[in-house]
Amino acid sequence: MPFSVGAVILAAGEGKRLKLREPKPLAPCLDKRLVDFSILEVEKFFNNNKINGCITAVIGHQREKVQSYIAERYSNVKYAIQEKQVGTGDALKSYFNSSADTLNYDYTLVLCADTPLITAHEMEQLFVEINSKNFDGVAAVFDEKNPYGYGRIVRGEKGFKIVEEKDADEVVKKITEVNSGVYILKTSYVVEHLKSITSNNKAGEFYLTDVFSQDRNVEALSFQSAKPFLGVNTLLQLEEVESLLRDKIKANHRDNGVRFIDFKNCYIDTDVKIGFGTVIYPGVHLSGKTIIGEDVIIENGAIIKDSKIENKAKVLAYSVLESATLRIKSQAGPFARLRPGADLGEESKIGNFVEIKKAVLEKGVKVSHLSYVGDAFIGEESNIGCGFITCNYDGANKHVTKIGKNCFIGSDVQTIAPVEIGDDCFVAAASTVTHSVPNGGFAISRGKQITKEAMASKFIKKKNK
Ligand code: UD1
Ligand code: MG
Repeated sequence: MPFSVGAVILAAGEGKRLKLREPKPLAPCLDKRLVDFSILEVEKFFNNNKINGCITAVIGHQREKVQSYIAERYSNVKYAIQEKQVGTGDALKSYFNSSADTLNYDYTLVLCADTPLITAHEMEQLFVEINSKNFDGVAAVFDEKNPYGYGRIVRGEKGFKIVEEKDADEVVKKITEVNSGVYILKTSYVVEHLKSITSNNKAGEFYLTDVFSQDRNVEALSFQSAKPFLGVNTLLQLEEVESLLRDKIKANHRDNGVRFIDFKNCYIDTDVKIGFGTVIYPGVHLSGKTIIGEDVIIENGAIIKDSKIENKAKVLAYSVLESATLRIKSQAGPFARLRPGADLGEESKIGNFVEIKKAVLEKGVKVSHLSYVGDAFIGEESNIGCGFITCNYDGANKHVTKIGKNCFIGSDVQTIAPVEIGDDCFVAAASTVTHSVPNGGFAISRGKQITKEAMASKFIKKKNK
């Protein structure tokens, strides 16, 4: 499409009703903030339609905070400052006053920072409507059984006007066709008509909605579903919107062949990737940049952040993973903790109450019970017994334990790092390894057992009854 569009995201309002410390555009929503959603979707709309466009955020309340958040993430967003929040019409004027470039775009697309369910699809529909039918302005509208709080659409012979809740009489209040707050307008048209809006209304605000009128060449485009336009004004609405966004993400995964045992009861962030045939049990949280392969099983209550789980791996119940890697057919849990840098090789296994940190376990390694493996390397097919501990910290620095391949490390062994155990070694149970063991070596370090016959009774205490 050879057209240019200036997109404006209105984000200057205070959002008092939301009752958060953060300004409304920065309200947390999944792993992002409210304002991210409209920015990302406008970018998509521009890219999908090859539109020459620019995004500007109108900021005001706590504007330094809002601007620095956006600027850290998006280099292409511009800013307009609205000094006083005296209405959406004034906010749009601030946009046009921010730079002469704003006047050069064929169309101006207006969105609010608090509608995170809007998608490029609705923007495309608005664009097609204004462009194909040569309207001066198109507002997205929908039917709402409980229209309280919304501007009502009062259709006229040619166009329509929007009457705000505060200004509506009893007849108008009954109208269920409402304004979404999303519009596309010819830039020349909106600039012209913004000049004449006044604050002669109950709120004493400059309403952007006054650029529409019943005798103008404008259209109220009716959308079947209100969902894309749901706004966040309260914490309850934030919860509802987050829940819908989450369902949308999960439904996408389901469409791609991911099976949920309890669809409602699991939490998946926006950027997580999951492969075909994977099964997700209830109570699972997947967040950050997590990538999960095909035919993976993630059992109940697993919490997985920024981790990579390869095909056919299993994360058993109540395991917690952060910045960890599970390679093909490896398995962790139940109750395993994988901290940053844990790297479980192909077909390796860690079991219950095992903590792994900054450690590489090569193919086939097993650490089945109650162990701590930190700053370590364990070679292929080595088996580590129960209660193994790498003593990696001397109070100031961390040191490395290296264990070769095909080793057998008995239960209750500690390695005092730095220390190296070669390939094919055997370390006897209950040993404390302080010196390196060469390839093929056997190491034992434990007190000799003394046994005295019939002496137990001397030590067994009788309870007073
Ligand atoms: C607005 C519409 C209403 C519509 C509703 C949909 C007007 C006059 N009314 O009402 O018809 O049904 O949205 O949700 O536009 N903002 C600024 N500067 C301001 C005031 C607001 O930037 O001075 C921003 C807010 O941060 C917000 C957006 O504009 O992102 C909308 O403002 P809000 O106060 O929520 O308008 P509504 O009363 O919801
Ligand atoms: Mg609102």
